[in-house]
Amino acid sequence: MTQHVLADEVAQAEVVDRRSADQDRERFIGRVVSCDGAFAIIHADAVEVASGEADYWSIGRLVSIDVEEKRIVGLVFNMNLLEADWDKDTNNIMRIQAELVGEVSDGEDGRQYFDRGITTYPYLGAKAHKIRKTDLAAVHHPTDDDAVKIGRLSQDAGIAAVVCVEKLLSRHFAVVGTTGVGKSSTVALLLRQVIAVKPDLRVLMFDPHNEYSNAFSDCSVTIDTHTLDLPFWLFQHEEFAEVVFRGRPRVEEEVGALGDLIAIAKTNYANKRAQNNGIVKRVLDSNSGITADSPIPYRMSDLFALIEEEIGQLEGRYDRIKLRSLKNRLDALVNDPRYRFMFAARTIEDNLFDVVSQVFRFPHDNRPITILQLAGMPTEVVNSVVSVLCRIGFDLALWGDGACEVLMLCEEAHRYVPGEVETGFAPTRQAIARIAKEGRKFGCYLGVVTQRPGELDATILSQCSTVFAMRLANDRDQEIIRSAIADSSIGTISFLSSIGNREAIAFGEAVMTPMRIKFSDLPYEYIPRAPLFEHASNREETVPGAPVDLTMILDRMRAMSRNTGVL
Ligand SMILES: Nc1ncnc2c1ncn2[C@@H]1O[C@H](COP(=O)(O)OP(=O)(O)O)[C@@H](O)[C@H]1O
Ligand SMILES: [Mg+2]
Repeated sequence: MTQHVLADEVAQAEVVDRRSADQDRERFIGRVVSCDGAFAIIHADAVEVASGEADYWSIGRLVSIDVEEKRIVGLVFNMNLLEADWDKDTNNIMRIQAELVGEVSDGEDGRQYFDRGITTYPYLGAKAHKIRKTDLAAVHHPTDDDAVKIGRLSQDAGIAAVVCVEKLLSRHFAVVGTTGVGKSSTVALLLRQVIAVKPDLRVLMFDPHNEYSNAFSDCSVTIDTHTLDLPFWLFQHEEFAEVVFRGRPRVEEEVGALGDLIAIAKTNYANKRAQNNGIVKRVLDSNSGITADSPIPYRMSDLFALIEEEIGQLEGRYDRIKLRSLKNRLDALVNDPRYRFMFAARTIEDNLFDVVSQVFRFPHDNRPITILQLAGMPTEVVNSVVSVLCRIGFDLALWGDGACEVLMLCEEAHRYVPGEVETGFAPTRQAIARIAKEGRKFGCYLGVVTQRPGELDATILSQCSTVFAMRLANDRDQEIIRSAIADSSIGTISFLSSIGNREAIAFGEAVMTPMRIKFSDLPYEYIPRAPLFEHASNREETVPGAPVDLTMILDRMRAMSRNTGVL
């Protein structure tokens, strides 16, 4: 009702305006007809402008509302006509909904300043119009000096889109969007900019498609199962059990026995080492506090001997059949070439130093990024390896007292921390959740990338204070993003289904205000590409009907599976 009265006023104002000399200019002006503090409704004349000058009334754009000496900035998120139909003979009034994002004021130095808070709200009838370029620049002008450019505003390609690196990292970030919209390229772009500002940051990238090695050939090292050295004793009980049972249903009695015996093997090792060093008089016993989770080495041969010993006991603690079965599983595991990276070291020694230096790049030699290629690794191995490394990364930051800042980048994060608790691997979830919740205090940061935010653990996503939301087709996924980001209006992301490739709505801590951006062009050699794509792009033109060289394809397949250990 009120709106209609006001609409009439607007219409009347328009009639008067049209008579004025400044007729055309006025037609581009809207009036505030409703405001509730967070949002404003603006009515404006829907003029047909061939020059496209009035296209600022468009979803995702910022507009400006004059209030006293200031200009309130609003983000358009919904628009419709007041009347149901377009009438070509009269003025069609548009009803535009805008989220109020802050205000711009003119400083004494003649510059414009943007503030996220609003001190004076728009009054009814206040003029709304296209935002001035200088105001737009002020809105996106970073306050932090570690800001880096990642693209341009979709609204005005003349204005750079920037993010503040410290805020981006320390409050964690997420890149979400359907396959092919440019997530991986965005990650490549972000990381390049981030390490330019923070050259000592270590980045550990979990790369499930083996696509990042190409993109970072100048500043990373690649580790795959052939080069990874992650000794079995670093695995905690649950992580090791996941590998031993290869993701199949576990036999709890075997898992229990495994834990008990590993604890003994670790105690034995600790004892021996202490005796050799001559520093401990009292021999550690089973009450020493050492558990299967303690980061202490042990010998595999010791574990086998302990199992044999148990089997030989007349009245043993465990079922013999279960023990034999456990022994067989361990035997198979130790001899499986795919698990060589866990059992390769000839002499069991405490090589934690080497492991950490390899994975976390100490010294980094200007290659601070480690790419862990996961494609082809069995799932249970991926789960455990990610879990172990996330734990180590966190501890490294924690005990480093700020000297070692680490960014863990999880592509396809929904695989490690799925929304459904039963489907994920508990230790991985725990390790990642710990980083998400407490990491920033110590300098351990998380970057998550997913095409299925709806399948990602909502608490992890809610810890990501900066989100680059790229195109999302699925309603549920859009809904998730909407609820995960506290300060976004429903409207600002209701158009996530329609934005273009390499475009995103960036929200949160690291950006000045929610913005729709077009990411910068990455040079060809910096674009992530899986090795198979490489073959495709290098392929000679195929002639229709030409025979397929199956031998060559199979050779390639074999070579690939030798690398990945799939077949
Ligand atoms: N910023 C960019 N600069 C240049 N090309 C890009 C950029 N973003 C995306 N692309 C192109 O789009 C393709 C798909 O992007 P990609 O990052 O692999 O998408 P996603 O990870 O979402 O599946 C890339 O191979 C590249 O050709
Ligand atoms: Mg990708």
